[in-house]
Parts: sequence; structure tokens; C-alpha cells
Amino acid sequence: MKKFKIAVIGASGYTGLELIKLILNHPDFEIGYLATTQGSEKLSKLHPALQGVAEVDIEKVDIDEIANSCDLAFLALPHKTAMGVAKELLKRGVKVVDLSADYRLELEAYEKAYCPHEDRENLTHSVYGLIELYRDKIKEASLVASPGCYPTATLLGILPFIPYLDSNIPLFIDAKSGVSGAGKKLSDTTHFVTINENIFSYNPLKHRHTPEIQEKIKKLFNRDFEINFVPHLIPITRGELVSVYGVLKEDIEPLEVLKEFYKDEKFIRVREKPVDVKSVAGTHFCDIFASKNGKSLFVSSAIDNLLRGAEFSSLSCWQLNAW
Ligand SMILES: NC(=O)c1ccc[n+]([C@@H]2O[C@H](COP(=O)([O-])OP(=O)(O)OC[C@H]3O[C@@H](n4cnc5c(N)ncnc54)[C@H](OP(=O)(O)O)[C@@H]3O)[C@@H](O)[C@H]2O)c1
Repeated sequence: MKKFKIAVIGASGYTGLELIKLILNHPDFEIGYLATTQGSEKLSKLHPALQGVAEVDIEKVDIDEIANSCDLAFLALPHKTAMGVAKELLKRGVKVVDLSADYRLELEAYEKAYCPHEDRENLTHSVYGLIELYRDKIKEASLVASPGCYPTATLLGILPFIPYLDSNIPLFIDAKSGVSGAGKKLSDTTHFVTINENIFSYNPLKHRHTPEIQEKIKKLFNRDFEINFVPHLIPITRGELVSVYGVLKEDIEPLEVLKEFYKDEKFIRVREKPVDVKSVAGTHFCDIFASKNGKSLFVSSAIDNLLRGAEFSSLSCWQLNAW
């Protein structure tokens, strides 16, 4: 059977490496093109973990070459750079899964949180890549916008409860992420000496994932919630734990609500005990736990930010012939 040829643009980054490993193990996919800013490299030199596994040339981005050799491209690029590449690939008929924020939000929300949009035309038909909610649309899409890592964990945890929550009371979201969530570029906050044996919040109440969470809740349930989102950096390499606090307007059994909502979902595990990041590291699972105290609801979800958090479950779906 013919295999689909896949391009990974941003092959030297953290999510790029995860993608390459997934494609190498995929029954229906093969590597068609790998690109970085500089190119002119061998895969095993770029990622010594792959020495003896696969030897592929790394190139600079050449849109025509990618269009000639690939069916689908994953863009593991920074936002803004991604839309420049996506626009050209889509023009040439290559399907695109963009891991950046460029096609996740409505225009106004995007421009407020990020920068002026340079591909408004494709923005109108991108599909938000949260498979539990948009599986059918993803199957037909030419452009999939992978959800942000925090929104993935947050939305999967809280969406089942939106109909039962009091929208007059803000949702408080406390999130903790491993350092790989920030990408490979070193900064003051990701420096070993800063993060080792430490924990701190960053961009409290102002993080760019806030409008994404708000917009998706509104789109799916037509309900407006004030969102107070506070991310923290913790000294682990990968994994994210998100705790959401809300107020119920109806008496429900939280675990029963979760089990019913996700009864047919392979990548959601409803847990009877509080979740942790070690149990999901290296997997596509989102583990979720919830409990209540009177009207107060606590929902906690855990994902691997580099796998489930970058929405590679779309690849796993193909693997399971479910996409
Ligand atoms: N890390 C996560 O947990 C996570 C989760 C969800 C979504 N995301 C999103 O996924 C995207 C990638 O994240 P990441 O963490 O993998 O980033 P990263 O580790 O910083 O890697 C970024 C990659 O982009 C490449 N690149 C930058 N500009 C380029 C250009 N003009 N042409 C070709 N390649 C270029 C870099 O190549 P060079 O080495 O040549 O500079 C590098 O390979 C980002 O938009 C991020 O927000 C990340």
C-alpha cells in the first residue's frame, strides 16, 4: 500500500523530534522532507537519538520541493513564520497541520494576542484540531490548527462541565508545565539555574492561551466565562498539570459526567484519583480527575505537552484507522 509522504518543517525543535519519531513508526506515513532554518545536515547529526534508526537529509524550506514530494506537512515553527509557509503550501495543494497559534483563533482575537495576520483567507477554513470535539471536520480538512498545550489540557478537563457551571462566576485555571513547553531557545526563565528546584508563575492572568480557552468554550457551548488563567513553570522536562476551579449551578456527580462525555474516546482516561504528569509522559493520553465540595468543582487534567499537547493524537488516530 502507498504510504503518505510527510514533511516536518522545524525538524530541529522539540516537537519536531517527536513528530519524526512518530512518523518513523507509523504504518501509513513516511518521511518526505525535513527542514530547519539552515538545512545542510543529516538527521542523525541533528538528533543523535536517531543514529542507526534513520538517515535523512535535512534541507532548507523549499516550498516547491515540499509540494513535489509530500502529501502533508507538519509545521513545528514559531507563530508568524508558520503562516508564511502554510499559505504557500496550501496554494500548492499540500495539506497542513500547524502546531503554532497562527490558525487557532478568530482574526480579532489572534491579532490582539499575537500579531497582524498575514493569511486571512486560510484562517476562515482552518479546523481546530481537538479530535474529541472536531474529529469529523479534521478528516475533511486541508488545514488543521493544533490546539495550544494549555488549552488542550484545560478544555478536555472543563468542557464536559460547562453546561453545569455558573457562568456568572469566573473560572480559575492554575496550570503547571515542564520546561520543554517553552521550546528549545534558552531564556532567563528556562535557564537551568533559574528553574532547578524552583517554581514560579509567568504571565499571570495575561497569557496568550487565555483567549483560546475562552473562544472555544463560547463556540462549543455559546456561553461566556471570565477566564483567570495562571501558568507556572516547574523543573521537569515534559508534562503539564492543569487544575480548574468553578462553581456548579446543578448537583452532579463529576466523575459520572466525565465518564459519560468521554465514553467512546481512546485518548481520555477518567481517573478515580487525582492525576499526575508521570503517568502520561511519553503518551497521547489526557488523564482527568474531578471532584466537588458542595457547589465548588475541581477538575484536574494531565498531558504530555510535546505529544498530546502538540496534538499528535491526530497521527495516532490514523494509526488506529479512526481518523
Ligand atoms: N513545546 C511544546 O510543548 C509545544 C506544544 C504545543 C505547541 N507548540 C508550538 O509548536 C511550535 C514548535 O514548538 P517547539 O517547542 O518545537 O519549538 P522549538 O523547539 O523552538 O523549535 C522551533 C523550530 O522551528 C525552526 N524554525 C524557526 N524558524 C524557521 C524557519 N524560518 N524555517 C525553518 N525552520 C525554522 C527551528 O529551526 P532552527 O533550529 O534552524 O532554528 C526549530 O527547529 C511552536 O509554534 C509552539 O508554540 C509547542
